[in-house]
Order: sequence, then C-alpha cells, then structure tokens
Amino acid sequence: EKGGYDYFMLKEIAEQPKAVADTLLGRIDGTGSLTLDEVRIAAGVLREVDKVVIVACGTAFHAGLIAKYAIEHWTRIPCEVELASEFRYRDPILDQQTLVIAISQSGETMDTLMALRHAREQGAHVLAICNTNGSTIPRESDAVLYTHAGPEVAVASTKAFLTQLVACYLVALYLGQVRGTQWADEIRAVVRDLASIAGAVERVLETMEPVRELARSLADKNTVLFLGRHVGYPVALEGALKLKELAYMHAEGFAAGELKHGPIALIEDDLPVVVVVPSPRGRSVLHDKIVSNIQEIRARGARTIVIAEEGDEAVVPYADHLIRIPVTPTLLQPLVATVPLQVFACELATARGNEVDQPRNLAKSVTVE
Ligand code: M6R
Repeated sequence: EKGGYDYFMLKEIAEQPKAVADTLLGRIDGTGSLTLDEVRIAAGVLREVDKVVIVACGTAFHAGLIAKYAIEHWTRIPCEVELASEFRYRDPILDQQTLVIAISQSGETMDTLMALRHAREQGAHVLAICNTNGSTIPRESDAVLYTHAGPEVAVASTKAFLTQLVACYLVALYLGQVRGTQWADEIRAVVRDLASIAGAVERVLETMEPVRELARSLADKNTVLFLGRHVGYPVALEGALKLKELAYMHAEGFAAGELKHGPIALIEDDLPVVVVVPSPRGRSVLHDKIVSNIQEIRARGARTIVIAEEGDEAVVPYADHLIRIPVTPTLLQPLVATVPLQVFACELATARGNEVDQPRNLAKSVTVE
C-alpha cells in the first residue's frame, strides 16, 4: 500500500502534483471564474464580511499564515490567523460579519473544533477547509471546502499542506470575485497560474537528489535555522516544524528581517541556515533585502542553503548550496518552495535512523486539548 516507496511520507510527497490538481478540479470554469458551489454561505453574507479569522494548528496553521497574505491582498479584508489552542481563551471579538476559516487535515483536531464552536456561539460564519469527508469539523461548520489530497497516513503533513494552500487561494480569490475588487485582472491571471502549478510542483520533485545528498551530509548537526520573508516566512516555519518532528533536531524559523533583533547571535561557524528567497520580480525590495541577510549570516560563518527561483543570479555568490525552484507568482511560491524542505526533513530523519511515518511522541490526529 506504500506503492513501492519505503515510507508513506515519500509516497505522499510524490503525490503532491496530483493532490494539487485534484483540489483545483471542477472549481474553475472555462472563463477563469471560480465556481465554489460548496461554499454555501450566501454571496450577500460574504459581501458583508468585514474580518476573516483563521484558526488551525501545526502545519495547517502555517497554511493559514500564508492565506492571510493572499486574502488581504486580493480582498482587502483584514485577516487574523491564530493558533486554535489560543483562540477562545482570549475572548476574541467576533460577530455575524466575521468569517472564521478552520483549517484541518483530519477534521478531528480538538483545539480547532473548540475554536470553531466558540466562533459559532458568537454568531460568526465558519468555513472549514478539510481533507476528511464527514469528519467532525466540517459537520459542525456552516460550509466546507474539501481538499482532495486523498488519505494522508504519515504523521508529518505534506500533501495536505499543499492542498490547504490551494484551498486557501481559492477562497481568497472567490471572496475577491464575489466582492468585485480592484484586482479583477490579477485574479484572472492568478487563476491561470494556478492551473499550471501542479506541473511546477512536479518539476521540483524531479530535481530533489542534491537535496537528499545535502540532508545526509548534515545528519550529525544539532541545529538548523530557517529564514524567509513575506509568504516565505511561514514556509520557513513549516520547514522547521518538519525537521523537529522527523529529525528531532533543534530547528527554528525566523522572519529574515528579525535577524538583527536577536537571532543573528545564534549564527556560528558551519551552522546550516536555510533561506527561502522571494522572487526577484514583483516585490524586488524584499529580494534585495534577503540577499543582504544571506551575505550577513555567511560573513559570520553560516553554511547557507538557499532556495531561489530559476534565473535568480544575485544569490549565487552567497549560496553554499543552491536549490532551484520554478518561477511562480509571489503569492503562490510556497507551493513550490515547501517541497524541498519536506524532502530535506524526510531524508535527515532516515539518515538519523528515525521512524519517518510515526515520529516519537506524536499522533496523526490530536483529539485531546
Ligand atoms: O489534522 P489537522 O490538520 O487539524 O492537524 C493539525 C496538526 O496537528 C498537524 O498539522 C501537525 O502539526 C502535523 N503533524 C505537522 O506535520
């Protein structure tokens, strides 16, 4: 049932292009408009929404952090993202104009379920993004947009994450479409880009051998740091989470702009630092700033592992290891940038002799608070 792979995780990483394509299937019509009939919240209600709040845990929370950039950019509706376990304990401000999005692969995570129950009690509308048909979270929500990743068996979430991102982009674009934002042309262009994104994920998968080799060479390290900016920041957090879970290594993700506010003190000779570089096109200011960050940490001895777009030559002089990803629109980059980090963590776990599919102390779905 592992389909010839040693681990479910490897199989699930390989299934990502299909999972992404399946999650898009039937949701975009021939004219480039979104047809999310499943979102049974009336267009009138969606037009009145004045705040979006995303609640989730772990990897799903990271998908939510990325969704915030997309939702605020395409809809101009303020969006908060909160760990489900923290949400109801701070008495959040919610009403009928709040759209709460609960993201969960399993649909059974107790923290997320309690958060959405709290939100509904306050009158908010709740949309679930979920991978498991008929599970508790979608049953208790006003509407559900299913991710079509297929069953995810490995405890470490991979294909569910990519499909959660796709679902979040669809919701963001749909909200933009329903509300008729100034970004209509951009929205149509992104819908077109989404249609080719599964192919981009496939291309990343074809070039992973050097990443595996690199991971094996780092098996005796104790710490790996991850840096990113903009949507690359949650990608850094996700890369660090995968490494904690699978390799049992100290791994931390930082927003690269925070380096000088503390984390740079951690840099020492030969410390591996993975840097997710934004596209040099579009938000090029961020690109240039992160290139300076790479220079700074390298000058202090870091071993730089740079994930950058094909054709981005500015990073070359400062990259001890360079991992190329296809050119994508800025907001969609996490779909391709996360994949090398999954492969990296999986290979490190194997090299360290860890159980890949069932890491110690963890369960696939966390049904207690
Ligand atoms: O089933 P859920 O998406 O609600 O699970 C949330 C987290 O428990 C989950 O993403 C966890 O962090 C994964 N093991 C990460 O790989």
